[in-house]
Amino acid sequence: MNYYLIGMMGSGKSTVGKLLAKKLKTPFLDLDHYIELKNKMSIQDIFKEKGENYFRELEVDALSNIEGSKVVVACGGGIILDHRNRKKISSNGKVVFLKASTSSLNNRLLSNINRPLLNDKNIEAELIKIWNQRKKYYYDTAEIIINTDGINPETLSNQIIEKLNE
Ligand code: S3P
Repeated sequence: MNYYLIGMMGSGKSTVGKLLAKKLKTPFLDLDHYIELKNKMSIQDIFKEKGENYFRELEVDALSNIEGSKVVVACGGGIILDHRNRKKISSNGKVVFLKASTSSLNNRLLSNINRPLLNDKNIEAELIKIWNQRKKYYYDTAEIIINTDGINPETLSNQIIEKLNE
């Protein structure tokens, strides 16, 4: 059984996921990083050269490959867009949604954009648009919902563990 962290870009899935994995004594896997290694290409280049739809299929494959393991997985923000992924993660483990306001996502992303969906865009306006398209999927897929605004990663990882133990 895996622990899947979902949420928008900049919600802290990788930072919190690493801490959570340490506390659960479980390996950590960043799904985007896994895809980059497997395809020997950066996410930016995959979007640029192959397009978003191609990337979404790589996400489906990557999730299938790690189905039977026991890892903490930081999923890419768009993982919940495909119904196959939503089904897969909710039936294969615990799904934790890291919820954040668009203004805090915006603040966190300003220092490290490097996200193809936000290239050359007004970041906050784009985040609002993406959130409105996706929020239903995040809520529907999550078993545990954690509000992240103003809370540090250490505390967040402890809160997740408490909820997992309930
Ligand atoms: C995406 C989020 C990114 C990455 C890709 C697309 C999205 O991951 O998978 O740029 O559609 O929200 P992070 O959520 O880790 O930034």
